[in-house]
Amino acid sequence: MIQLDNITRTYGSQDIQVAALKDISLVIKENEFVAVMGTSGSGKSTLMNILGCLDSPTSGQYFLSGQLISTIEDHQLSTLRNEKIGFIFQSFHLLPRLTALKNVTIPLRYSDVNQQEADQRGLHMLAQVGLADRSQHKPFEMSGGQRQRVAIARALINNPSVIFADEPTGNLDSTTSTEIMDLLCQLHASGQTIVMVTHEESIAAYAKRIIRMKDGHIIEDSLCTN
Ligand SMILES: Nc1ncnc2c1ncn2[C@@H]1O[C@H](COP(=O)(O)OP(=O)(O)OP(=O)(O)O)[C@@H](O)[C@H]1O
Ligand SMILES: [Mg+2]
Repeated sequence: MIQLDNITRTYGSQDIQVAALKDISLVIKENEFVAVMGTSGSGKSTLMNILGCLDSPTSGQYFLSGQLISTIEDHQLSTLRNEKIGFIFQSFHLLPRLTALKNVTIPLRYSDVNQQEADQRGLHMLAQVGLADRSQHKPFEMSGGQRQRVAIARALINNPSVIFADEPTGNLDSTTSTEIMDLLCQLHASGQTIVMVTHEESIAAYAKRIIRMKDGHIIEDSLCTN
């Protein structure tokens, strides 16, 4: 599903260069649930941005579903991102003026799905995350956990091959974090591939594999026994 070969990512110009990723090689198979951990500045978000096709590596090769990402055209890249990848962010990234339903159906705007079908699929996704009765609410009318559920429903609406989550519980209290992690575990149990960044061991423990990073390197890659 995901294969990284000798990926590097260097920021900055010639004078001041920051090597955020140094020679990362990694394979993630279908239906894995991976947590990426590491201290601040170790390269977790940089890795997620490359995996999510939001950023390109300075060198190395990235294959997603067998497709070499570095050689595909920009417009193909946005289609691929929209159809194959679901994102969940720490701060939810919902559009404040739109209802939950309209937020969830954003990814369908770029496909040929008509309004009625989009709304139907959106309502179905909201029901899946336990928010059937909140479709007409706007983000400010919802709790943090509810907002993150809307973001998860949006991430799922195109039935993506993989979900990337960067600190999905970073803005949530512990009870709500548990709810969100239970939801991610359900998705994993139903076959979803998930890669998640977290600072917290208790959150990483929900995953089946933990990758630890330091200074742009992977220093540990282990399967969980839970
Ligand atoms: N746009 C950028 N320009 C220059 N340097 C950057 C940029 N983005 C990240 N870096 C640097 O790359 C390194 C890795 O950053 P990254 O954001 O991937 O870390 P992180 O592991 O996600 O940290 P955190 O846990 O704080 O989110 C850091 O040294 C950071 O300063
Ligand atoms: Mg980060």
